[in-house]
Parts: sequence; C-alpha cells; structure tokens
Amino acid sequence: MANIPSGNRDSFTSKFGVIAAAAGSAVGLGNIWRFPLVTTQNGGGAFLLLYFGFIILIGIPVIMSEFSIGRRAQANALGAFKKLAPKTPWFLVGSLGIVTAFAILAFYSTVAGWTLEYLLEALTGRVIHIDDTAQNFAEFSADPVRPVVWQLLVMALTGGIVFAGIQKGIEKFTKILMPLLVILIGLVVIRSVTLPGAGEGVKYLFIPDWSAVNFKTVLMALGQAAFSLSIGMGTLITYGSYIQKENHLLNTASTVAFTDTLIAILASLMVVPAIFAFSAGNIEQMSPGPGLVFEVLPNVFRAMPGGVIFAAVFFFLLFVAALTSTISVLEVVVAYLKEELNMSRGKATLIASVSITVLGVLATLSFGPLAHIKLFGMTIFDILNFSSANIMLTFGALFIVIFVGWKLGKSNFLDEISNKGELQSRLFKVVFFIIRYIAPVAIGIIAVAALFIQGIT
Ligand code: TRP
Repeated sequence: MANIPSGNRDSFTSKFGVIAAAAGSAVGLGNIWRFPLVTTQNGGGAFLLLYFGFIILIGIPVIMSEFSIGRRAQANALGAFKKLAPKTPWFLVGSLGIVTAFAILAFYSTVAGWTLEYLLEALTGRVIHIDDTAQNFAEFSADPVRPVVWQLLVMALTGGIVFAGIQKGIEKFTKILMPLLVILIGLVVIRSVTLPGAGEGVKYLFIPDWSAVNFKTVLMALGQAAFSLSIGMGTLITYGSYIQKENHLLNTASTVAFTDTLIAILASLMVVPAIFAFSAGNIEQMSPGPGLVFEVLPNVFRAMPGGVIFAAVFFFLLFVAALTSTISVLEVVVAYLKEELNMSRGKATLIASVSITVLGVLATLSFGPLAHIKLFGMTIFDILNFSSANIMLTFGALFIVIFVGWKLGKSNFLDEISNKGELQSRLFKVVFFIIRYIAPVAIGIIAVAALFIQGIT
C-alpha cells in the first residue's frame, strides 16, 4: 500500500517514469521546430541567457505549483481546483485548461501529421529529390486528404497510448521513446556540427548579440519557456496527480526543466549549423512556422552526404517528440471526463479524441479548402495557435501561480513539496517567494503584452 498515494488512483511507478512522462510532455515541436528559430532571430547567446533565467526563475516555480496542486488534490486539472478551493470560482482555471487542451491539440496534431508525410518521403527517398521545397510543402499542406489522413493517424496513436492508461500506456511508452529521442538527436547533432562550415552556425547560435534584445525579446523568451515546459494548462497538474507521495518534487521539476532546455539547445545544434554549412544565406529566410523544418531542411538533406538517412532519422525523432507531447495534452481531457463525468477510460478517450480530431481536421484544412475562412486575418490554424499559446497558456500560468501563492498558501505548499516535512531544503521557501511575488508580476506582464503583440509566445 505504501506506494499507492490515495484510494486506488493510478500512478507512475518510478522516478524515471515520472521524468520520462513529464519531460516527454515538455520536449516537443516547441523545442525542435520553434526554439532554434526564435533563438537565432533574437540575439543568439543573449536570448539563451534570458531563456535560462526564465527557466529557473519562472519555469521551475510554475512546474512546482502545478505538481503540488495535482498531487495534493489527487485529481484532474478541473477537479483539483474544486477539491482545493471548494465553492469558489477557481474551478474556472481548470475549465480554461480543458479548453486550451482542445485548442493546442487541434493545431499540434496537424503539424505532427506533417512530420509523418515527410518521414514517408524520406523513407522512399523522395525527400532529397524535391526541387522546390516551398512549393512542395504548399501543395502538400493544401491537399484536402493527405494531411488529414496523417492527422487521423496521429490522433489514433495518441488515443491508443492514453487508452492503455498511466502505467501501461503513458509511462511505458515515454520510458522507451525519451531515451530513443535523446540518442537520435545526438546522432543528428554529431552529423550537423561536423559538416564543413558548421562552425559559423555554432557561433551564430551562441555569440550574444545584445543589440537584438529589446522588450519583445524578453517577452518572447518568457513565452517560449512557458510553452516549452508545458506549463499553464493543467498538463502538469494532471501528471502531478499521478506522482507518488515520496517523490522529491523540486528535484523532479528541476530535472524536467533541465532536460527540456538541454534538448532545445541540442535541437538548435542539429538545425542551425547544418543550414549554415549548406546555405549560410538561408538563415535570413528562416521564418516562424512550417518554413524551417519542412522547407529549409529538405534542401539541407539534399546537399548532405547520407541525407536520406538523416532526413528519415530527423522526421522520425520530430514525430516521437510530438507524440509524447500529444499524449500529455489528451490525458488532461481524458482525466477530466473520467473523473468529473464518471466515464470509463475507454469512453473518455474515445470522446476526447474524436471531438478534438474534428476541430483538428478544420485546422488542417485551413491550409487548403478552408483557407478562405478568416477571423482578424487569421486562419483557423492561426487562431487556435495564437489564442492557445499566446493568450490561454499565459493567463493559465498566471492564475495557477496566484492560486498557489495566495489561495493554497505557504503552509499547504511547503507541506506538499516537503512530503509533510520529510524533506528539508532552504530552496523550498525561495520557491514559494517566487511563486507568490515574482512569477505573477512577470507572467502578468507577458500575459497582457501577449494580447497586443502577435507571435510572442
Ligand atoms: N511543451 C510542448 C512542446 O514544446 C507542447 C506542449 C505539450 C504543451 N503540452 C503542453 C504546451 C501543455 C503548453 C501546455 O512542444
């Protein structure tokens, strides 16, 4: 019984399982698709320093907040607020998380689907024969059928793993996939940095350019940190509810944050030096979104010795990174349906997957047949991407730290993270101070600014 937190609730079985699952959630398209780009466009090393600062000052405390809410309440993202603050409107923060999960997974599964198309093109060798990679991507993404089929496959795999449960699904798969991911990234990094001319790319990445740093850069660093760590939506509340009572939450949170950051840097070392080696000028063309991975990289693979193999490895690892994130987002909705509406895991998974897929298909089709549907000049995909990452997540993170800092309170928080006084660390109080005073102000600034500046988070 000692290992079972309370009642017969599901839980992760080992320390490594918790880290694999949480790091699996954190490491995703945000690290590989987005991080190298925002870093190079925002002052390289200067951006990195800011980013590290935010990971430590904001990222770890917010992860701690979510873990402690989840583990204390032993409930899903919405139920947790109901249990810890009964008869108050705090449950709305949980509801926001459920809605955000829908929005994120809808557009995220579109992109995850694209990685499968490119994986297939790599396996058949076609990827290195594409002449106009931009046109190729435009045609593929506008197709009314192919990207939808890939998306259905992504959602079916995601649903299958979530359906299998916490131990037999999420923990089991992430424990295999995360080490595999690290090995594959390592291989591609070695290839990339040993290409002739790669050194310039490494310099470009790390040498700080303080002249590129302004208020927007600071906001972007914070936004990227939040998205990359999977905070602000209840993913880590949900996973926290499956963490055993004796787990050292501060160590777990720090390990997850460190792993996520390391992989973001390794991802940059895969992408940027390779682009420099073959087409230094192209760095200027790197635009946020699909461009980098689906348009620039195929050109790099074509020019590189052994390019087909590296293309296959790269798109496979990108897909693996995405999959361990999609399951964490789906689990938020499934845990909610299961516990709040008393559904079986099977029924909850089916309903969540199907309804998210419907929204997701609309996002996918907004590159083709539905491209004309626009609100404020944004397509369905853009709206889902912008509103979830820029608005919902930042406000979600803001409310979560305010909840822990001001409602759950110091003694409950310290009791939870010290495992009822068993663990001692001076850092515990420092973390609480940050959660109560520093994080709300910093996140508050970005949340408000994000409403006005598109493309921050
Ligand atoms: N962190 C993931 C990435 O970098 C995306 C993600 C998964 C996420 N779950 C989340 C982002 C929850 C915010 C909230 O790709």
